[in-house]
Amino acid sequence: MIDIHCHILPYIDDGSTSIEQSLKQLKTAEEGGVSKIYLTSHYFRGHYQYTRQEYDEKLNALRLQASRAGLKIIIESGFEVFIQPGILEDIQEKSLTLGDSPYVLIESELNGLPIDFYANVYPLLRAGYKPILAHAERYVSIMHKPSKARELIDKNIYIQTNAGSLLGFHGEKVRKTAWILLENGWTHFLASDDHARGEYGALFAGCELIGERIDKQTTELLTQEYPARIESGEKIPYSYVMVKRPHHHKKSMLRSIFG
Ligand SMILES: [Fe+2]
Repeated sequence: MIDIHCHILPYIDDGSTSIEQSLKQLKTAEEGGVSKIYLTSHYFRGHYQYTRQEYDEKLNALRLQASRAGLKIIIESGFEVFIQPGILEDIQEKSLTLGDSPYVLIESELNGLPIDFYANVYPLLRAGYKPILAHAERYVSIMHKPSKARELIDKNIYIQTNAGSLLGFHGEKVRKTAWILLENGWTHFLASDDHARGEYGALFAGCELIGERIDKQTTELLTQEYPARIESGEKIPYSYVMVKRPHHHKKSMLRSIFG
């Protein structure tokens, strides 16, 4: 399993506040079957703003402690980039991507995607980046109309859902929206978005539930197959749910002709 979204890197955003806390989360992740984790710290001009060197120093310090603690989980660099005018410049300058890939985890105003959202995302697409909208189910505009996620996908924006949302961590509306996204194939990644405030286990509970309510193949796609393609470079399809059209109507028509 690969987790593409968490705030386990300490001392950089509103996530982990100590190395001990980070190691505890990494250990739970590894024991539950996570083989690789992207430490996607918030990057938000004016709020969580730092140099790439500052980030790398913190990342390397944690990697060192993790290997000293005997952990085998692969720790990748990553960011959750708040979309603002001119953000492409920071993305390019500081390589605010998932590992060395062209994928960029993005976020925006939860109260509703601002009207200039697309205008600020298009420059990323034109520059060859592949944006993934983090926890789409938490946006008020998507809660009101979940098919909005499909409009985003049509504009080449991938969608990520939080495991905790499926469990109701953000309330009933978010929970329902998360399931609608999943059931319609409007999400490509399931991740923890763990902020090291409690147990890491929500990701595993979420996977279990998807297996029960949808199928195991969907769990596999969203937590292993597609996240693995971020590094391998193999294309991730924007649309992956094949709808089988019922044929009975045609058959009954033939039957009425031929008896
Ligand atoms: Fe996050």
